[in-house]
Amino acid sequence: MNSSPSEQKRTIVVTGASTGIGFEVARQSAMRGARVFLVSRDPGRLEVARRQILVGAPEAELETFPTDLSSLKEVRRLAEEISRRPPVHILLNNAGAVFARRQLTPEGHERTWALNVLGPFLLTNLLKPTLTFAAPARVVNVSSAAHRSGRMHWEDLEGEQRYRAYRLYSQSKLAVLLMTYEMARRWRSSRISVNACHPGFVRSRFGQNNPGLYGRGFRILEMLFGISPKRGAETPLHLAFDPVGGSHSGGYFSHGAPVPSSRRSYRAGDALRLWELLEDQTGLRSSVSPAGDGRSPASLRLDAASMGTSG
Ligand SMILES: NC(=O)c1ccc[n+]([C@@H]2O[C@H](COP(=O)([O-])OP(=O)(O)OC[C@H]3O[C@@H](n4cnc5c(N)ncnc54)[C@H](OP(=O)(O)O)[C@@H]3O)[C@@H](O)[C@H]2O)c1
Repeated sequence: MNSSPSEQKRTIVVTGASTGIGFEVARQSAMRGARVFLVSRDPGRLEVARRQILVGAPEAELETFPTDLSSLKEVRRLAEEISRRPPVHILLNNAGAVFARRQLTPEGHERTWALNVLGPFLLTNLLKPTLTFAAPARVVNVSSAAHRSGRMHWEDLEGEQRYRAYRLYSQSKLAVLLMTYEMARRWRSSRISVNACHPGFVRSRFGQNNPGLYGRGFRILEMLFGISPKRGAETPLHLAFDPVGGSHSGGYFSHGAPVPSSRRSYRAGDALRLWELLEDQTGLRSSVSPAGDGRSPASLRLDAASMGTSG
């Protein structure tokens, strides 16, 4: 694939970049000439991914950031590291998972909620200064068609009273949409577009992190019915690089086109409630300056001066 001049100097952060959809987006971004920051937990898998990408794009500028995105502390460290690099034009919040059994992060959050919702919320807000510096910039959040059966269980968001893996997963993907729409509203005047997508049912490693029948079930279903990760990467790539991802904000895309999401995902009251809750849970509320308007997390700890160091 040839790189177009406008794509050559763009920097994209891809979370969940070691395998599956994220790997494909990272690989194709590099082939388009973008500088790619690859984020996921396992340093070995990240290194393998980096080398694989270099095979097809030997000149690519790639950097790996091993990070557990379900840890708020690690997300903060990651944001600080990225803020010292060249400005970020595109953030793809792709890392996500489903957990058959309830697990807690060291900070005490249920892992689906922490990885699929808290992590992207915190990372995106902390990277707002670098995105603003690079603007026009884009945030692309990977949701899922599973959001359609999701409900916000406000009294039991982290499944303490009743844990069902799919219930927590579909709720988290609904929360991703509520967060996307609220962020698009709040950042309207920022020249940062914020969109979400469903990648399709993809033959990746998704769900296979789980032991026993649950993990094996996913594997079989994905083998039988899943599309390739390359096809799964098409809609995220479309939003990351094609004009529509810059001219649209607050949209939900599937098969490369905007589609309506569930009615629950458009409840503005739920979006506001979720935003305020996430600000509390991630500790962002305390980082908003009293001089700010209280609605825009414009004054987070990273400042623009700390990030424009290398063009
Ligand atoms: N596959 C599907 O059919 C499907 C359908 C709809 C939506 N989605 C969504 O698409 C996204 C990508 O899924 P996929 O199918 O590509 O899954 P995947 O093959 O399991 O890849 C997940 C990626 O996320 C990383 N990751 C997992 N836990 C992490 C953590 N705590 N911190 C940092 N990185 C972490 C993994 O690397 P490490 O394990 O090395 O950390 C891996 O790179 C997810 O948000 C998923 O919900 C998938």
